Amino acid sequence: MTSTTPSESAIGGLTLEQKAGLTSGADFWTTKAVPGVPSIMLTDGPHGVRKQRAGSDHLGIADSVPATCFPPAVALGSSFDVALLERVGVALGEEARSEGVGVLLGPGINIKRSPLCGRNFEYLSEDPLVSGVLASALVRGLQSQGVGASLKHFAANNQETDRMRVSADIDERPLREIYLRGFQRVVENEQPWTVMCSYNKLNGVFTSQNPWLLNTVLRDEWGFTGLVVSDWGAVSDRVAALAAGLDLEMPSSNGKTDAQIVAAVQAGGLAESVVDTAASRVAQLVAKVVAGAGASDAPYDAEAHHALAREAAAASIVLLKNESDLLPVSVDTSVAIIGELARTPRYQGAGSSLINPTRLDNALAEIRGLTGREIPFAAGYGNDGVASEAQLQEAAAVASAADVALLFLGVPAEQESEGFDREDIELPAAQLQVLDAVLAANPRTVVILSNGGVVRLSGFVDRVPAIVEGWLLGQAGGGAVADVLYGVTNPSGRLAETIPVRLQDSPAFLDFGGEHGHARYGEGIFVGYRWYDARDIAVSFPFGHGLSYTTFAYSQASAAVDADGATVRVRVTNTGSRAGADVVQVYVGLPGSQVSRAQRALVGFAKVALAAGDSQDVEVRIDREDLAYWETRVGNWIVESGEYEFSVGASSRDIRASVTAQVEGDAVVIPLSLESSIGEMIAHPVAGPIIMQSLAGEETGGLLSDPSMFKMMESFPIGRLASFPGMPVDEQQVAQLIAMSNAQHG
Ligand code: BGC
Repeated sequence: MTSTTPSESAIGGLTLEQKAGLTSGADFWTTKAVPGVPSIMLTDGPHGVRKQRAGSDHLGIADSVPATCFPPAVALGSSFDVALLERVGVALGEEARSEGVGVLLGPGINIKRSPLCGRNFEYLSEDPLVSGVLASALVRGLQSQGVGASLKHFAANNQETDRMRVSADIDERPLREIYLRGFQRVVENEQPWTVMCSYNKLNGVFTSQNPWLLNTVLRDEWGFTGLVVSDWGAVSDRVAALAAGLDLEMPSSNGKTDAQIVAAVQAGGLAESVVDTAASRVAQLVAKVVAGAGASDAPYDAEAHHALAREAAAASIVLLKNESDLLPVSVDTSVAIIGELARTPRYQGAGSSLINPTRLDNALAEIRGLTGREIPFAAGYGNDGVASEAQLQEAAAVASAADVALLFLGVPAEQESEGFDREDIELPAAQLQVLDAVLAANPRTVVILSNGGVVRLSGFVDRVPAIVEGWLLGQAGGGAVADVLYGVTNPSGRLAETIPVRLQDSPAFLDFGGEHGHARYGEGIFVGYRWYDARDIAVSFPFGHGLSYTTFAYSQASAAVDADGATVRVRVTNTGSRAGADVVQVYVGLPGSQVSRAQRALVGFAKVALAAGDSQDVEVRIDREDLAYWETRVGNWIVESGEYEFSVGASSRDIRASVTAQVEGDAVVIPLSLESSIGEMIAHPVAGPIIMQSLAGEETGGLLSDPSMFKMMESFPIGRLASFPGMPVDEQQVAQLIAMSNAQHG
């Protein structure tokens, strides 16, 4: 007797046509209902619920029901706050459930390879640990409410240029260590109900029809048990995609691709069991959604969610610079507010993630409310990106009459969207003119930035005493900015991406976007701070940087290594006069590593809140897997033996304490062949001693005793050397030795 899972039995009585039908959408946002399997709804995502009311499109054009617009990922990433992201996930789940949405299409965790990516506002970080840990928290929170996540865009969707066709050409190590790593963490930790494939190709194969990616890696290696859904319109060849493990095609193809599946089965080109597998995964997802929806469909508390959005936004703001403690300003300080963005906020990016907010705060009104004062305001520039002479004069006039000028600058909405990349990382010229005018009128100027991707600050960073990175902060961002500027909230955000001095310094500068359908990831594993550090390139603000209105001191660190990883301990003291939160960052390096490595890679972090004067022993746990590199010769993660350097930092470039600890590595034996070098033969546990013994003979003994000769010969393939005159062994003997060695270490 064979046992059947509920979902198998759910599809057991279905016709081939019905099963094929289950594997594509009914329309833009729902799956088809068949007997025993109801329809469910999937909607964007990621930082709010975008349930469309009328009309159908997937790029945010049709109106959607109001929902809380939480801070987009660019902001949340800077919070480094796992508990907070989990709470945001819970709130998203409550809203989705109350709208009857079964799967929320997010989070997006593609790595910010270049500051130019048009969709960086939707992604968390340039670092896979930050992306993976924070996305896990979002997924955990969301799914705790009986709503599925859709981890996207799997994989290597790091640019928008030609996104539907381009091939991301990535070597194995960066692919595993940087671009897949975050996905792996979330899948292994949280089992998102769905994973969304990306539009692009990966090393020449569409991710939607890539069996290596969707089956070998995602399912066989990582143990993913959920459903793979296509990005909207990502399927090029439906039958190939189904065979490769793409279960659900969205949106509907109006029956076209269902018929292709049926025809392929009937023609014998596709096994019906493949259709069964995909259909039963859809049925399983539907069963989870139905069970989740049953939990409760109570309306959510919009006020409470707005307050959470404000808290999250405030925790995400990064205080980049604060000379002479210009911030926080006190309610009694005479200030002027300048910049249209203070009145008309940019709070999210454009495209499929566009949320229709339940309400929208702006900084101007919030600051006026908080201070109880009619603070002077000048727009400075228009939304059209132009600053008239009159606007410049007005800006200078209000700035000079105030003690402190609060100047809001940012990237215009039309420059940051899904679907295309940015052309540069400059602030608009007109805004920079306003900045010059305001600075000339009042050097006590605070710049507050609104931007989804980083902007170049090096043109003015030395002239402006205080800079606040406000990203895109969601619907409650205005209040959050007010809270930070006036010290109601002590800023605690940290940069989840480096702010370079120039675009030209950035890792992917030379090949971002690619050409002729291929984007070659030439910088390899050196993405983000790994690149700037390895090349010792000056940056405006490093990864992990962020100031507070208080100060933190670190004790000496200690590291205890165990079989599963390491624990780094450090005592952190709030040495200032205000309560505040610090992000303790642990980086690891392995001087003398046998492979190319980042000088320092983030392996753990903890956000700690401390009252003024308080201390806390902070423990950061590091998984052994995060010490590993991807060993291409054996196709596996390998921890090298060695003296690892654990550094505790306030940023990737502000290391406060370092400690080394010996880690016992994994035994890795590279299979030998006639092309193995003498050096590799010698390193082999079986072949090594035998080779050394035969080389020590009379004819070749000199080779071992002369270091430079030995160095020269070390790289010689054994098979070729064996046929040289005077060698103590011939090719056949070497072949036998290789076979024996490989057999003992198979
Ligand atoms: C985006 C996805 C989104 C989907 C549905 C696509 O264009 O890339 O992120 O979830 O549309 O709107």
